[in-house]
Amino acid sequence: MSLFNVYPLFDITPVKAKDVYVYDENGTQYLDLYGGHAVISIGHSHPTYVEKLQQQLANIGFYSNSIQNPLQQQLAEKLTAISGCKFYELFLCNSGAEANENAIKLASFHTQRHKVVAFKNAFHGRTSAAVAATDNPKIVAPINAQQAVEFVDFGDIEALTNILAKGDVCAVITEIIQGVGGLDEASTEFYKTVEKLCKQFGTLFIADEVQSGFGRTGDFFAFQKHEIEPDIISIAKGMGNGFPVGGILIHPKIKASFGLLGTTFGGNHLACTAALAVIETIQQEKLLDNVEEISTYFIDKVSQISGIKTIKGRGLMLGLEFDFPIAELRKELIYNHQIFTGSSKNPNLLRILPSLTVKKEHVDVFINALTKALELKKV
Ligand SMILES: Cc1ncc(COP(=O)(O)O)c(C=O)c1O
Repeated sequence: MSLFNVYPLFDITPVKAKDVYVYDENGTQYLDLYGGHAVISIGHSHPTYVEKLQQQLANIGFYSNSIQNPLQQQLAEKLTAISGCKFYELFLCNSGAEANENAIKLASFHTQRHKVVAFKNAFHGRTSAAVAATDNPKIVAPINAQQAVEFVDFGDIEALTNILAKGDVCAVITEIIQGVGGLDEASTEFYKTVEKLCKQFGTLFIADEVQSGFGRTGDFFAFQKHEIEPDIISIAKGMGNGFPVGGILIHPKIKASFGLLGTTFGGNHLACTAALAVIETIQQEKLLDNVEEISTYFIDKVSQISGIKTIKGRGLMLGLEFDFPIAELRKELIYNHQIFTGSSKNPNLLRILPSLTVKKEHVDVFINALTKALELKKV
């Protein structure tokens, strides 16, 4: 049986990884500034993570949500402590799309409405309601297109107000910093107004922190910079450092009832252990401080390189915008300098999403390689 061919692949086969490095079958070392798409948060194969997962697997790896699993409660408590999001309740699932799917579904249950507002260039995943709220017609199948979603320009308060005033919107869903879309972030005034309008018109505010959460921006959640309180916060990616786990933080005004949401795998013992190891490591290694320090250093260094039009994003969720498509540059970095970077919907934007453990010396290696690659381009 061959594989269903949906992924254009780089011809590299990692077989081992350690912190910010991955190694292929020939032992070639690659600097990973992509983190497998913002997933690696505490570094590949972190010793605490490996030890805790091995131990948990030897004890019990999985049982369904029909029994007591104290690890889920532990995770909820640790998540409250590290995020400062008191009073929220936690529902666990397996991926970012599933987190958003549940968030939208919950908003619809709560409000008994069915329309969603999302923003231009948004990416929320590939499942039913999540993909309908994603601004990319190529990945929206006719079955998804029947969902009622209105797209508004990111930052357009007037358009948003006009739609919400009709009173039939269950949720406004937004990334705080658009990831796949190309690292745009709206103003604090915009987010605060969205929060206010949602309250005014009985709509729920969903913050998609799937990519920006778990410390990637230097705050535990990206929305915290804007001092807002979303009704639902979706999480995944960095949460499990590679173990598939996601979830939603739910404001207590939204009431639970048996059977309202559910999943077979979500919140299993291994998934909780992975997330607990991530939180413990972020705290012990003061990784949020590291994000701030390395981000400042990175931005300072890249600012000195001519040819970069804009530096976008914050923390270690960064984008370098050029005035040419970066596809070849990305290939040059990977094949000739052994550095993984990312792309986005904006063809001119190179994305930098390293592990939160990345150090200045790694940034230096990248700066050196980028400088050389850009010089080569001029020749
Ligand atoms: C902001 C955001 N939301 C949701 C998703 C979907 O997550 P997953 O691929 O785990 O379903 C992504 C994935 O890139 C994302 O960046």
